[in-house]
Amino acid sequence: MNEVAPAAARLPAAPPSAGPEADGCWRRSELARLWARGRRFLGTDLAILGGAMTWVSERRLVAAISNAGGFGVIASGSMSPDQLAAEIAATSQLTDRPFGVNLITLHPQLDALIDVCVAQRVGHVVLAGGIPGAAAIQRIRDGGARVVCFAPALAVARKLVRLGADAIVIEGSEAGGHIGPVSTAVLAQEVLPHLGEVPVFVAGGIGRGEAIVSYLDMGAAGVQLGTRFVCAHESIAHPRFKEAFLRAAARDAVPSVQLDPRFPVIPVRALANPATVRFRDVQRAVIDRFNRGELSLKEAQLEIEHFWAGALRRAVIDGDIETGSLMAGQSVGLVTREQSVADILGELVEQALSIIAGRARPGSPVAAGAAGLGG
Ligand SMILES: Cc1cc2nc3c(=O)[nH]c(=O)nc-3n(C[C@H](O)[C@H](O)[C@H](O)COP(=O)(O)O)c2cc1C
Repeated sequence: MNEVAPAAARLPAAPPSAGPEADGCWRRSELARLWARGRRFLGTDLAILGGAMTWVSERRLVAAISNAGGFGVIASGSMSPDQLAAEIAATSQLTDRPFGVNLITLHPQLDALIDVCVAQRVGHVVLAGGIPGAAAIQRIRDGGARVVCFAPALAVARKLVRLGADAIVIEGSEAGGHIGPVSTAVLAQEVLPHLGEVPVFVAGGIGRGEAIVSYLDMGAAGVQLGTRFVCAHESIAHPRFKEAFLRAAARDAVPSVQLDPRFPVIPVRALANPATVRFRDVQRAVIDRFNRGELSLKEAQLEIEHFWAGALRRAVIDGDIETGSLMAGQSVGLVTREQSVADILGELVEQALSIIAGRARPGSPVAAGAAGLGG
């Protein structure tokens, strides 16, 4: 009921005959088998979501991902309901494949944004930026869309499924943007063996197809990647933002630093730049003023929170890589050149197939040997 048929099945089944062609077909049908649940849920050829990235995931990138067989997701974090309506309509002009919309649960106009998605018949709504309430989930479901929620732990995932989530994304701390404390590898082990009721998509730190297969093997329905798509030709990110990605190594993508537990900082993974250094200095100065009684607790907290206001837009759109926020995941080290979305997805699939190639095909001499039937 919650899972739909793929738009097009491009992955043929293996013919019975042996030989390289049969092996190629077998690898493809094996991959199709591994992520069949994710493909059904998304209605796509590939069970790969293009994770929504505020300012980056607009009509062009989203449509390019969907047109290339993945599942593009519009990031609405910076949009009003009218802007979102226009973005959905514009994306629909560029693709007739399924795509989704990412809504930030803390958005002051969340209900109005949900209503836009329902009115525009968006098939999948991804609720991000905090644990969503039952009312938001129900509103989306009542409108006929599927609800995808982020879960930072197994217990939360179970609760969200009880509340009506149709699928779960588990995102580890390797990811770009707002992050939780637990790595993708550990979160996957905590959740995947125990959550069979709905499809689970794994996000955070995935940059190659071999990693995708490893999570599918563990029971994931599919994956979500963000960082890998930032330098796509179809991404509108400013050339300087893309250059920063191309230059960066994994270790350059670091979480924001909190200096004092009295003044919590929401952890965000981004490339270190002059702004991240200044953020530390600003926190230090604000804490000193608070300690001297010049600021109330609330005033001090607000000053710290305001530091990053507008910073992602400055970096992504204006190309200000000195004072802007260069949100990026650790997989940034695997982003080495600008490519089309189709090339990126094609590369991921080839890498996935290459790791599957090392496996024994049913009926092959290797498989027979492994089963104790070899001569
Ligand atoms: C520049 C940037 C902006 C992002 N903005 C959002 C957002 O608005 N909403 C959201 O749910 N996730 C956001 N993310 C997270 C992505 O959707 C995705 O889950 C994440 O990038 C996956 O991990 P990866 O970066 O290791 O591929 C953002 C990530 C990046 C790099």
